[in-house]
Amino acid sequence: MENKIHAQITGIGAYVPDYILDNEELSRLVDTSDEWIMSRVGIKERHILKGTGKGASVMGAKAVDQLLEKTGVSPDEIDLVICTTVTPDHLFPSTASIVAYESKLKNAWAFDLLGACSGFLYGIETARSFIESGRYKKVVLVSAEKMSSITNYEDRTTCPLFGDAGTAVLLEPTSEEIGVLDADLHTDGMGKPYLYRKAGGSAHPAHAKEVANIDHYIYQEGRFVFKHAVSKMAGVSVGMMKKHNLTPETLAWLVPHQANLRIIDATAHHMNLPPEKVMINIERYGNTTSATIPLCLWEWEKQLKKGDDLILSAFGAGFTWGAVYVKWAYDS
Ligand code: ACO
Repeated sequence: MENKIHAQITGIGAYVPDYILDNEELSRLVDTSDEWIMSRVGIKERHILKGTGKGASVMGAKAVDQLLEKTGVSPDEIDLVICTTVTPDHLFPSTASIVAYESKLKNAWAFDLLGACSGFLYGIETARSFIESGRYKKVVLVSAEKMSSITNYEDRTTCPLFGDAGTAVLLEPTSEEIGVLDADLHTDGMGKPYLYRKAGGSAHPAHAKEVANIDHYIYQEGRFVFKHAVSKMAGVSVGMMKKHNLTPETLAWLVPHQANLRIIDATAHHMNLPPEKVMINIERYGNTTSATIPLCLWEWEKQLKKGDDLILSAFGAGFTWGAVYVKWAYDS
């Protein structure tokens, strides 16, 4: 029997901007405190991309450049670029096309994918399908988010939460039983009014009235989103463990979306996982939407070993949520 093609992650690049917005500076912008933010969310600082005219593509392209340098892959070899983002440089053209141009990926076609905080999981499942089809050999999944561009720094309920970052992951085929092995993804559009950017799309273009109403920034009903995030992320992650006979002993890592430390802790608790098996860096980056999970993989890359079982898990606007099972493909 012919071996099935699997999609393996073969490298990761990332870029976080230099400027750090810490809780002390935020406390001067809005009525908040380091104590409130740390105890309710777990964020100490977030990185912000400064500079007029700089969009998410700037961070995405820098992440791609690092990825290619690390892996020794030439820009000409890349077949396809998928970019996950809720903060595209423009509504069109796609941010993926800008990243591909800036990183000189001349032979790639490119498109954007919007899955909000679950964007990396949606992107991995999409990229995996292109590889498993046998038609694509090198797919780059970029996750680039300039959340500061849609954050209202006069709203204390949302401005402590978000940060900027760009990441890039390379996926390639393998005939070994490793790589991205399973995905359980979900969408429920009832979540729209609880977490969205009201204006700036075709329903409500960001004209003077919408801007005066401050509708062009993130709107979130935090408590409602929190409740759903915990139950959905925990449910889908426990389900993925059971389906693949993974136990707290055999699972190497949970790689959760970094929106709130309490959501991460609750998910790990439902999975009976000890804290040392959970990747957490929310304290230093905040919620970078679709970039949080690859940013964790990038930081933990040296500790990952070939054959490690990982569950990636996320919940976000839409609502969107899911879990992905990965058997790690390389020793760093
Ligand atoms: N500083 C001080 N007080 C604050 C702050 C702040 N920064 N923000 C809110 N408060 C106050 C509120 O005004 C409220 O005061 P009140 O009781 O007098 O009205 C009180 O703190 C409690 O507010 P809650 O909203 O109930 O606070 P909660 O504990 O729920 O924390 C948070 C808010 C952090 C937003 C939390 O609900 C959360 O993490 N929600 C889920 C976020 C998430 O997962 N989003 C999905 C991914 S994002 C994406 O897809 C783009």
